[in-house]
Amino acid sequence: MPMQCAAAVFPPTTKALCSVRKLTNLAQLAQWQAEIETRARPIAFVPTMGNLHAGHLHLAAQAQALTAKPLVLVSIFVNPLQFNDVADLARYPRTLDDDLARLHEAGVDAVFVPPVDALLPEAENHGVRIDPGPLAERWEGAARPGHFAGMATIVAKLLHLIRPQFALFGEKDFQQLAIVQAMVRDLNFPVDILAVPTQRAPDGLALSSRNRFLNEDERATAPKLYAQLVQAAGALTVAESVESVLHKARAELTTAGFIVDYFTLCDATSLQPLSRLSANSVLLAAAQLGAVRLIDNLRISP
Ligand code: PAF
Repeated sequence: MPMQCAAAVFPPTTKALCSVRKLTNLAQLAQWQAEIETRARPIAFVPTMGNLHAGHLHLAAQAQALTAKPLVLVSIFVNPLQFNDVADLARYPRTLDDDLARLHEAGVDAVFVPPVDALLPEAENHGVRIDPGPLAERWEGAARPGHFAGMATIVAKLLHLIRPQFALFGEKDFQQLAIVQAMVRDLNFPVDILAVPTQRAPDGLALSSRNRFLNEDERATAPKLYAQLVQAAGALTVAESVESVLHKARAELTTAGFIVDYFTLCDATSLQPLSRLSANSVLLAAAQLGAVRLIDNLRISP
């Protein structure tokens, strides 16, 4: 039974019942921006595709805790441009009522929930895309062609429309975060991108909207991905060879039932593979478990 939130209904006559302001189109977003102008508070922006879990709420809480005391706006938009598989787009969980109730409970100031044609109107969408460059070529980019161009394009649009001072992204999607940071730096977007550490279940599994597709056995196996990252990090810091550590981790995961796509040591900025641990390293991993593709990572230094 979904939680109910009266202010899921706009206009703000219902605001007394529910403090989160729901903005469903560009005019409503502009109206809210005009209203908050006099308050002289910056905006902190948390982009999401909905189906909110504790990881998203943690991003919102981190935004609320910023010393600049920003107004916090969360967007919910299942972005068709970043799905290279239509079946994947169709089955992406949409749980708007629950999401709004959670955001209300969390006390965020506004939620931007545009329908697809408000953000990507057919008549205006002639296919201009952000090219995320070499950072998008490997890893998730190789597995999901076009995904990062679609993601960067929508994030660029949202940043232009919302004009936040801060935008918060989880480290769970490490490559996404690296690409957004590079886009903002290379194209001089006037926003601070804040990286927020991955939120995990008590058994170590990184929180993700996709976890709900794991069956009971797969859910019991899934934390082994993070366990292997931790084990590999430990082995690398006591100077075992990178190649043998990565090989061992892939073999352990395969034995546990994963189909490993990559389990690699990279430079955390360029995302290029490393053959030796450096002060700026990250272990990146992606593996299929049943129908679910899991990704995770761990920062590591000598
Ligand atoms: O991480 C996500 O949920 C999406 O990629 C994002 C950043 C909201 C862009 O659609």
